Amino acid sequence: MPGPDDAIVLENVCKSFGDFNVLNGISLTVKKGSITVLLGPSGTGKSVLLRILVGLMRPDSGRVFVGQQDIAQLDDKRSRDRKTLFEVRRKFGMLFQDGALFDDITVFENVAFPMRMHTKMSEDEIRAKVSDKLARVGLPHAVDKYPSELSGGMRKRVAFARAIALEPEIVLCDEPSSGLDPVMSATLDELIMEMHRTLGLCFIVISHDTAEALTIADTIGMLASGKLVHYGPRADLEHECHPALRQFFDRETEGPIKVV
Ligand SMILES: Nc1ncnc2c1ncn2[C@@H]1O[C@H](COP(=O)(O)OP(=O)(O)OP(=O)(O)O)[C@@H](O)[C@H]1O
Ligand SMILES: [Mg+2]
Repeated sequence: MPGPDDAIVLENVCKSFGDFNVLNGISLTVKKGSITVLLGPSGTGKSVLLRILVGLMRPDSGRVFVGQQDIAQLDDKRSRDRKTLFEVRRKFGMLFQDGALFDDITVFENVAFPMRMHTKMSEDEIRAKVSDKLARVGLPHAVDKYPSELSGGMRKRVAFARAIALEPEIVLCDEPSSGLDPVMSATLDELIMEMHRTLGLCFIVISHDTAEALTIADTIGMLASGKLVHYGPRADLEHECHPALRQFFDRETEGPIKVV
């Protein structure tokens, strides 16, 4: 059961697709106001895990606490679950791996979308908040553009602005730095740390970038072969490091992670 300082608690979460056990008993606790980076090779279920956290996908078994609420078996097709899921999702900002912007509305409307969906803010407030968030990601002049007019990196930054639009309790970022040049990637890392420092937001960041993990994380986890093979404070890496994590940091082709 979660304690008062816990933002998220997973207990023995399992998820399979057909015969393929993607997640095989994942248990972890994310503290409120922490920055957790989850590393892991491609195809190990990192994005699946994020979808389970916001109730977009249900695990086969296990418990998924967001605060005190277990959302594991809530189904938004059932009317009695829908309200609870809506309230739980309100706590999250989500940056999907592919950005998941709405292509038929402008950048402004994309970032304003969660505000219109979840709040009763006035048009002036919305305008001010959208401008602030777009300025923070370095895109103050993109408001009237459509996503199709932007580069991949710019789309990613708009998606990040949308994820932090409501200054949610927990921001889930699926590979925020992929597709960004090193300078923009570092800028986004700084923004994550600033939002964390000034607003106390909790971030769960999926990344392949070990340098990013060492820069921003207070907790580092590693998913491999369906298991959480490492999970703990960044400082612990000096004492213990699972071979899969070591292989990641050392960019070795030989090791427990096999290239198939
Ligand atoms: N809806 C689905 N139906 C069937 N299989 C799925 C579904 N979603 C994910 N998978 C499978 O689950 C596995 C894990 O996918 P996931 O997208 O979570 O990987 P990942 O760790 O995020 O990889 P990457 O680093 O490449 O983004 C993959 O083999 C994928 O094909
Ligand atoms: Mg993924």
